[in-house]
Amino acid sequence: MRVAIIGQGYVGLTIAADAAAAGNTVLGFDVNPALVAQLNAGVSHIEGISNNSLASFVASGNYSASTDAAVLDGADVIVIAVPTPLDGDRNPDLSYVHSAADLITQYVKSPALIVNESTSYPGTLRNEIAARITGVEHLYASSPERVDPGNTQWRTKNTPRLIGGLTPAAVAKAREFYGSFCDEIIEVSSPEVAEAAKIFENTFRQVNIALVNEFAQIADALGISGREVISAAATKPYGFMEFKPGAGVGGHCIPVDPSYLAHVANQVGVPATFIKRANEVNLAMPAYVVQRVIAGSGGSIAGKSVVVVGVSYKANVADTRETPAAAVIDLLRNNGATVTWHDDLVGSWRGETSAPLKGDVAVLVTRHDGLDLAALQACGYVFDCTGTIAGVDGI
Ligand SMILES: NC(=O)c1ccc[n+]([C@@H]2O[C@H](COP(=O)([O-])OP(=O)(O)OC[C@H]3O[C@@H](n4cnc5c(N)ncnc54)[C@H](O)[C@@H]3O)[C@@H](O)[C@H]2O)c1
Repeated sequence: MRVAIIGQGYVGLTIAADAAAAGNTVLGFDVNPALVAQLNAGVSHIEGISNNSLASFVASGNYSASTDAAVLDGADVIVIAVPTPLDGDRNPDLSYVHSAADLITQYVKSPALIVNESTSYPGTLRNEIAARITGVEHLYASSPERVDPGNTQWRTKNTPRLIGGLTPAAVAKAREFYGSFCDEIIEVSSPEVAEAAKIFENTFRQVNIALVNEFAQIADALGISGREVISAAATKPYGFMEFKPGAGVGGHCIPVDPSYLAHVANQVGVPATFIKRANEVNLAMPAYVVQRVIAGSGGSIAGKSVVVVGVSYKANVADTRETPAAAVIDLLRNNGATVTWHDDLVGSWRGETSAPLKGDVAVLVTRHDGLDLAALQACGYVFDCTGTIAGVDGI
């Protein structure tokens, strides 16, 4: 198939590589010219796709990137994989989705299957994409992306793929496309079910992470180890699922997607109370971490050098979107500490660069493979938010 993908970020490039490997001809469209030039030079910007494989797709003609929306016309399948962030009031910002739909109206004159993989609330495909695209009778399906960057066990191929179409013909075409590189396709009765399933999955994670984050604070106040309790509870072979506490939640999904569900819940008059509370608990974790660090450092960190170790939102990825490390650093500075951060994967961030791993105090927020344990432990006081360093304070 000839496949055009709008947006060549984490999701779009992942699908592009999988579709190209399956023998499709893939055109990656993105509005960022520097990214497009880099991709055409065979240089990947995401962890799961090597430069070698990208370069081989470019060389074989199975993949090319472009900033010219004219490449979208003539595709059998057009996948939308653009950002769906929150606006300043934490409401859904569908401006990128709308601009992708408008590009399709403007440039695509031959009928195609249009699939939305961007995460959004139920009704987005029908009301914000299909209803907005005029002039050509396309097929429409929703297939929310479930990729977990950095996860080597569960990838696009072996993660079951949800599909909901506006018509049976759309589902059949989507099945043919995704069947070329996914092992299992699960058809649901409507695009709204597929869309809602994705945001419910992430809401489930957000709420359970908030629960263990609150529980970790209760356990600490009781003088027992929250992590030991959670591990003990996880020995129950049924009815329990293990989540781990940490400095908060980050990335493009968990802190954001549940607010899409809360938004539609409000519209239909049902308060999304769990989402609201989970947001509050997770957003308050950096303050809890800093309070514990102060207590553990003799009651004050004023004038001390503090190094925050691992500033991306999860292990072994360079993604700093919504990372709780940002609030941890800001709060440490507000309390008078001289704060640097150390993260070789991130390198530079917020106008600062990764500093050497040394200080009076070290706060381990995210642990990447290859952490210099000796350097960490040489710091005067270590606070571990990851539960991976024995014998030190932490959550
Ligand atoms: N990153 C994840 O782990 C993940 C997982 C599952 C689902 N999602 C969802 O997938 C969607 C995309 O996320 P992402 O992480 O790939 O974002 P991203 O920021 O990594 O990439 C988005 C890309 O889209 C481009 N873009 C923006 N507007 C465009 C337009 N009008 N036309 C063409 N390109 C445009 C940007 O330049 C950028 O390169 C979001 O809805 C997100 O919630 C992300």
